[in-house]
Amino acid sequence: MSEVTVIAIDGPAAAGKGTLARRLAEHLGLRYLDSGRLYRAVAAKLLRAGDDPGDEAKAVAAARALVAEDLEDLGLRDEAVGQAASILAPIAAVRAALLDYQRCFAAAPPGAVIDGRDIGSVVFPDATHKLFVTASLDVRVGRRSAELGSGVDKQAVRHEMAARDARDQGRGVAPLVAAEDAHVIETSELDAEAAFKAALAVIGVRA
Ligand code: CDP
Repeated sequence: MSEVTVIAIDGPAAAGKGTLARRLAEHLGLRYLDSGRLYRAVAAKLLRAGDDPGDEAKAVAAARALVAEDLEDLGLRDEAVGQAASILAPIAAVRAALLDYQRCFAAAPPGAVIDGRDIGSVVFPDATHKLFVTASLDVRVGRRSAELGSGVDKQAVRHEMAARDARDQGRGVAPLVAAEDAHVIETSELDAEAAFKAALAVIGVRA
């Protein structure tokens, strides 16, 4: 049996991947990587330099130059950064540049929980466990709005999330899709605790 465990968690924005992934990692003693931060960090560099996130040469150069400290940037969760990330995410050479970082992160025992869009389908096709976490657009808009706090324009959140979903699902390279062997966890009617229990049941571990 391999001494490295990889748990791949994919799904659309605000479906509850991050909360679940962090909790599983803690429970199982694995490291945690939010792969979205890699794409966001590349996007943040471009935005800060005043560059177009769709500029292939600049996006690839920024992805190749990425270092761990870039992931600590406090502005990475901004929606503008998320939108820019989804604009550069279809660039195959950007994805290739970020592949090594993800694989190296998980390679050291005991392994890792990684969440994103293509972890089970492309980054770790042989992951020990694959989960696809999803929820209705309504529920996801509600969760992201609650995260952003009072005064948030829900219509704008819905509009931005739908645009990002469409880009992530529609791209030719590594589109957001459940791997054939992924277990789907639909969290529209599950709170964080229930989603955690459902994931443990899939993995075959007791709470
Ligand atoms: O946290 P949230 O679900 O809003 O987004 P994220 O996971 O931080 O990802 C931001 C964007 O990066 C996504 O909309 C995707 O376009 C891209 N991404 C990707 O293409 N592949 C990944 N493995 C992770 C993120």
